[in-house]
Amino acid sequence: MTWHQLWLYIYFSFLRGMIKWFLHKVTGVCELQRICSKYNVGAKRTKKIESCLKHSHTAAVKKALTNGERVDEAVANIMAIKGIHQDEDPQFGPYLTACLTQIHGYKNLLAEVEVTRKTPYNSENQEHENMLMQLWELLMPNNKLQSRITKQWSDIGFQGDDPKTDFRGMGMLGLNNLLFFSSQFNAEAKQTLSHSHHPKFGYSFAIVGINITNMAYTLMLNGTLRVHFYNLKQDMPNMTDFHRVYCYLLFEFDKFWLQSKPKDVMEFSRLRDKFQKKITKILKDNCVILEGEFFKE
Ligand SMILES: *[C@@H]1O[C@H](CO)[C@@H](O)[C@H](O)[C@H]1NC(C)=O
Ligand SMILES: *[C@@H]1O[C@H](CO)[C@@H](O)[C@H](O)[C@H]1NC(C)=O
Ligand SMILES: *[C@@H]1O[C@H](CO)[C@@H](O)[C@H](O)[C@H]1NC(C)=O
Repeated sequence: MTWHQLWLYIYFSFLRGMIKWFLHKVTGVCELQRICSKYNVGAKRTKKIESCLKHSHTAAVKKALTNGERVDEAVANIMAIKGIHQDEDPQFGPYLTACLTQIHGYKNLLAEVEVTRKTPYNSENQEHENMLMQLWELLMPNNKLQSRITKQWSDIGFQGDDPKTDFRGMGMLGLNNLLFFSSQFNAEAKQTLSHSHHPKFGYSFAIVGINITNMAYTLMLNGTLRVHFYNLKQDMPNMTDFHRVYCYLLFEFDKFWLQSKPKDVMEFSRLRDKFQKKITKILKDNCVILEGEFFKE
């Protein structure tokens, strides 16, 4: 244990408890109430509430964070345990409800993302096959695919003559993301695809697109994207919202790649890391929402 860890330990287990107890005695208001009145609606408030609940010594309070708990019941429980009366602090209930809805919404969305990622591309599944064909038609409306297995797939940046092997670790999440970008923001997707054909700074559109799904997924998994979703919506985010984050990332990565003027595709790993650091830094700002300039269309 380092000194820093020891200090954190002492802080959380002892000092923090004393400070909370003292403030509660003096003001008659608990920490959750203080957070709600001190911070405006948005990521900062929701993250503080989340952390406060997480570090609570009362199991019944902590439980409010568990997936599957009903938000209204959790709020009623917390208010009962903390002795908070609706008429004394009428805003607290609705505020806590909104925060918990966002916290649960994020966890539910992560679970849905995980299920999609774990669904492998299956060429025996007609729905999967149709989606793949749709992707081709959206990106290459003027070129007919000669056959299902063909070298043509490399024109949109797949590796071999059958895209089915390219989705690997990202499964259907990779295809869903590419298809969403290509259908909802067709002009931007085609523009990105054409950049990927650049004679000097070209790259494999679909392969990089699948890799950026990996980035979106990682940022979702470790909670970095909470800021975005907590600022975006007061209610639960859904898959459309995740796809939009992806569109933002892929579009921005393409710009970043061209601006970096890479020597060749061997620079991918380095530039990907650099881009990821840039995004992580942007997401340190508690007020941020990731929005493409093209979202308003
Ligand atoms: C989350 O993952 C991203 C990508 O790997 C990384 O840049 C970031 O530092 C991680 N953040 C946390 C809080 O672990
Ligand atoms: C997600 O929610 C938005 C409204 O915020 C709605 O328009 C959209 O259809 C929803 N998407 C899904 C996949 O349910
Ligand atoms: C994405 O690219 C990075 C860097 O080259 C690599 O380590 C990672 O395995 C790739 N992930 C996917 C899913 O393609």
